[in-house]
Amino acid sequence: MNHQLTDELLALALEAARRAGTLLRDGRPEDLGVAATKSSAIDVVTEMDIASEKLITGFLAEARPQDGFLGEEGSSTEGTSGVRWVIDPIDGTVNYLYGLPSWAVSIAAEIDGETAVGVVAVPMRGETFRAVRGGGAYLGDRPLECRTAPRLAEALIATGFGYRTERKAGQAEVVHRLLTRVRDIRRGGAAAIDLCDVAAGRLNGYYERGINPWDYAAGELIAREAGALTGGRPGEKLTGELAVAAAPGVFEPLQALLEELGAWHD
Ligand code: IPD
Ligand code: CA
Repeated sequence: MNHQLTDELLALALEAARRAGTLLRDGRPEDLGVAATKSSAIDVVTEMDIASEKLITGFLAEARPQDGFLGEEGSSTEGTSGVRWVIDPIDGTVNYLYGLPSWAVSIAAEIDGETAVGVVAVPMRGETFRAVRGGGAYLGDRPLECRTAPRLAEALIATGFGYRTERKAGQAEVVHRLLTRVRDIRRGGAAAIDLCDVAAGRLNGYYERGINPWDYAAGELIAREAGALTGGRPGEKLTGELAVAAAPGVFEPLQALLEELGAWHD
């Protein structure tokens, strides 16, 4: 990989995430309400999601006008440089709306379609996770290493649920059967943070059906660079159909069990 380019993209992603995180933390209106809904009445967008995406894309486009964008709140341009930014201006919007601290700004840069750089800022924790493909994952300056468990039955696994009722019903079935097979389940409310917590060894694994590229692009790279395995159904890449990320030794039985439980369909 071109290190000069990845260094530049990492520096820009860190600065964009820092600025957006500050805006979101310090600028959250007391009376924050729902600006719009998307896939269902509970899939909400606030004015701050929109402001954050505008800030990030404006900053990055000024520095690199030829790059493409994919943002949760509508940014979508091809670009001509081979670089595309994949942005979640707030991951964990419902937490943010309710004043819970687990929300993040997630920014990834793809080079020729492969994620090369990932940054996840979690302002209320004062933490910023980052990774460059092939260069390891870091929390601040600390290198990250995922944490395995002796058996799946002793693994702490996070998951999440979608916004549509039919999907939730399927996800409830899966989690109902999984709960007795693992140490415990967590539902933090921000997929990007779950993936970074796998990287940091604060969770042994994470899975979810139905997340989008902006939710996982940066976090998947960070998890992989911390030594975690990631994928979808057995033999497949992590996609919206199914996302699985876990430490080696946990990943394999978790992925096999999720296949058995049908976690990849509604
Ligand atoms: C959501 C969060 C949540 C996950 C949902 C995502 P958003 O993203 O990552 O943890 O369970 O599937 O849609 O809407 O807060 O950006
Ligand atoms: Ca989001």
